[in-house]
Amino acid sequence: MEQKKFYITTPIYYPSDKLHIGHTYCTVATDAIARYHRLKGEDVMFLTGTDEHGQKIEDKAAAAGVTPKEFVDKIVEGPGGVRDLWQLMNISNDRFIRTTDDYHVEAIQKIFKKMHDKGDIYKGTYKGKYCKPCESFWTESQLVDGKCPDCGREVQDAEEEAYFFRLSKYADRIQDLLENTDFLQPRSRVNEMVNNFIKPGLEDLCVSRTSFTWGIPVDFDPGHVVYVWVDALFNYTTALGFLNGKYDDYEKYWPADVHIVGKEIVRFHSIIWPAMLMSMEMPLPKHVFGHGWLLLDGGKMSKSKGNVVDPYLLAQQFGVDALRFFLLRTFPFGSDGSFSNELLIQTINTDLANDLGNLVSRTTAMVNKYFGGRLPHGSGATDDEQQLSYIYQQAREVGSGVELSFNFPEGDPVKYDVELICAALDLRDKYERDMEGFAPHTALADTFRVIQRANKYIDETAPWSLAKSMEQNGDRLAHVLYNLLEATRICGILLSPFMPESCGKLFEQIGAPRSCRDWDSAGRWGVLPEGGAVTKGENLFPRVDVEKAIAELEAAEEAARKAALPPLEIEPFTEEKVDFDTFCKSDFRAVKVKDCQAVKKSEKLLRFTLDDGSGTDRQILSGIHKFYEPEELIGKTLVAIVNLPPRKMMGQESCGMLLSAVHTEKGEEKLHLIMVDDAIPAGAKLC
Ligand code: MSP
Repeated sequence: MEQKKFYITTPIYYPSDKLHIGHTYCTVATDAIARYHRLKGEDVMFLTGTDEHGQKIEDKAAAAGVTPKEFVDKIVEGPGGVRDLWQLMNISNDRFIRTTDDYHVEAIQKIFKKMHDKGDIYKGTYKGKYCKPCESFWTESQLVDGKCPDCGREVQDAEEEAYFFRLSKYADRIQDLLENTDFLQPRSRVNEMVNNFIKPGLEDLCVSRTSFTWGIPVDFDPGHVVYVWVDALFNYTTALGFLNGKYDDYEKYWPADVHIVGKEIVRFHSIIWPAMLMSMEMPLPKHVFGHGWLLLDGGKMSKSKGNVVDPYLLAQQFGVDALRFFLLRTFPFGSDGSFSNELLIQTINTDLANDLGNLVSRTTAMVNKYFGGRLPHGSGATDDEQQLSYIYQQAREVGSGVELSFNFPEGDPVKYDVELICAALDLRDKYERDMEGFAPHTALADTFRVIQRANKYIDETAPWSLAKSMEQNGDRLAHVLYNLLEATRICGILLSPFMPESCGKLFEQIGAPRSCRDWDSAGRWGVLPEGGAVTKGENLFPRVDVEKAIAELEAAEEAARKAALPPLEIEPFTEEKVDFDTFCKSDFRAVKVKDCQAVKKSEKLLRFTLDDGSGTDRQILSGIHKFYEPEELIGKTLVAIVNLPPRKMMGQESCGMLLSAVHTEKGEEKLHLIMVDDAIPAGAKLC
């Protein structure tokens, strides 16, 4: 039989900033689905990459004083960049495309020309608003209070020559695709697209720009660059070799089985993308799945809002697999979910440490304690062949939705075996339905129900009691433990797309050879060889101390925030010149601190009593308590301007000002009072 092909993609990410946990969510979900299809023995192509053109990148590069290519290279390939993050998160993509790659650029130019030659791309005039200082075009809806969203200044009506794609021509076919097929999922997104975008009337789409240059040039019309979404969407085909010589997989994998995308880009993937494919007369992808957002404090994470969560810190603190698991177990894939560290820790402790971790460690510990790490031969089979076939039959019926009905006498221990075996054998089909329906959270929930059933089985069968009289109950004890190992093995197989590394360790601990880790064996009972070596290895998922972990995480976040700040900043130099006579009017004197006190009810102010050489004490108030304790300043020789008019602060008079040096270090304001040699007498004029 020919091996089934499965082509799955993530969106290609904008490398305008470091990626955050929201991007990680999308990629981890796609990775788990891709791994699930590999587990089923399919020939999987999993593509991800980066979408590197557009004005935003051009502007950011200019602000950083580098070329756009240098800018994106650092974020994509540099330390802590996109590729590093996917490696850390154990993402198993088969291919990585960068839209600045030559083969992609070449193919996009051909695609643009083809649609142009066909008459689906035509030249017209783009009408919009223009901000002169920013040299930016905006649409009416992008304006903020009618002004430029970037600088807040007035905008003018403007026109720019541009190419347009005849999106309107495909409106009916797209509506039909959305309403009458399962192309777009979840189904709830269909109404949104049809009501908000198609029914009000699809307008032709502007697909070239002349106001910036960082894009793929329209080769037959210099000055125009291809609109970034046309460039980006076709990545799904150019990465397979469509209209380029780099790869030769287009025939093999296209059309894609699914594009996994976030909800805000569903419009591009379910309206614009199929319309362009129709224009190119190419087959359409089978599905687009629009997942929800991870929210923080009720809002979408974004670098500009400063509310992003760093996946590196979380992975470092809790481990990659725990983070992958949390993201997919906690939030229903099609809906939004609120991220919090507390929820993450709670999920780790409940599901991984308590349920799964305990099942593995209790089972392996008991096999070690009671049987020296190897179950005796014969522990795998029930004593009764008929019994076993009855169990299988019941399990199959459960699989097809028939209620289980056993008539075991109350307290008959075999009842527990049957329930556990049936639950475990029923799991693979349920899990498959969940995964095929893009519901990884349900697949995990189903798996954890079996894990919980297995933990309950430990309590029901009480192996420690059986162990008290090995001679009488040894066989039964071995059988109970074998059942636990089998249930663990089946769950381990189905969890492996989510936590590949930890499940590898789990298989080692329960002594499951490779042949017992595949999809086929996840649907069978009694496959684990008897007498295999079971080891009580490291605790796979240690319990997390909530308070300690949150404190450590906050400290790490703060350290990372500081590390990202410029090391040292000084005030910019004042441009305006001051003439010499004006400067000389300022009277700088050496002053000695006779006394210094904190001003009551003020957090900032210190009150200085100073000897300024005049014979009368001078009082100056200064808002520097944050930097100095009053006692440490008594006796110091400082510098003050003494001819400023007196000022009242907190009801007290301040006659002059003390000089200090200020700068910013790692984002923190620093201040040093100017202290001079104590040999300088009070009242000495500084000039
Ligand atoms: N470059 C486009 C995609 C082009 S695909 C042909 C893009 N890039 S992006 O970097 O802004 O976003 C990539 C993906 O990350 C999107 O699917 C987006 O929804 C997802 N996420 C970004 N922030 C997110 C959350 N806070 N939560 C979940 N996913 C989020 O769009």
